[in-house]
Amino acid sequence: MSLFITFEGEEGSGKSSQAEELYKWLSTQDIPVILTHEPGGTELGERISDLVKWAQGTDISPTTELMLFNASRAQLVREVIRPALGEGKAVICDRFDDSTTTYQSYGRELDLETVKKINTTATGGLRPDLTVLLDLSIEDGLARKSGEKLDRFEQEDIEFHRKVREGYLKLANEEPERWLVIDALQPREVISQVIRERVSTLLPA
Ligand code: TMP
Repeated sequence: MSLFITFEGEEGSGKSSQAEELYKWLSTQDIPVILTHEPGGTELGERISDLVKWAQGTDISPTTELMLFNASRAQLVREVIRPALGEGKAVICDRFDDSTTTYQSYGRELDLETVKKINTTATGGLRPDLTVLLDLSIEDGLARKSGEKLDRFEQEDIEFHRKVREGYLKLANEEPERWLVIDALQPREVISQVIRERVSTLLPA
């Protein structure tokens, strides 16, 4: 078996907690599974992540962002994801190339086709079997983040986040068989259950 599941959503959507919940649940089902994340997930990727999320005093251009996220991704795919899938493991990744399509193309307004081509170069064409989108309004998402130290993306204005959210919903609409869109304001356990039910349909009998 090899199964590749990604989690997407905006700041404060709870996707990281749900990715972890799913990891724990699959482990209890004796499914060999790993949990990783973007940006980062490798030693090199973590250094890139630090740069792109927290660089202060440098005006990082949208194209530079596109390349940095994809540099981190190319390393993660080669070092972690492909080997795990090759060993028959399930791989859960907290963010993948849909994040670049939404943040760098819909959000930063880079050309969509160019972004998709560069993403594909980084992933080598690897596509998730399932992508879980935890959707919530921008206001609710940012409210959940208030009080925390904000990275470069969390500091963006409401309009940027609105474009990102619309981007996600558009992508999900274009490929409904791959995406599972969930209202992120539901109770945590309800969300976990919906995800488990869908993932169960992808597991060997
Ligand atoms: P996170 O670690 O809180 O998920 O933060 C990662 C931030 O980087 C988040 O605001 C989304 C952004 N991001 C992009 O803009 N493009 C990407 O390709 C990825 C993976 C993340």
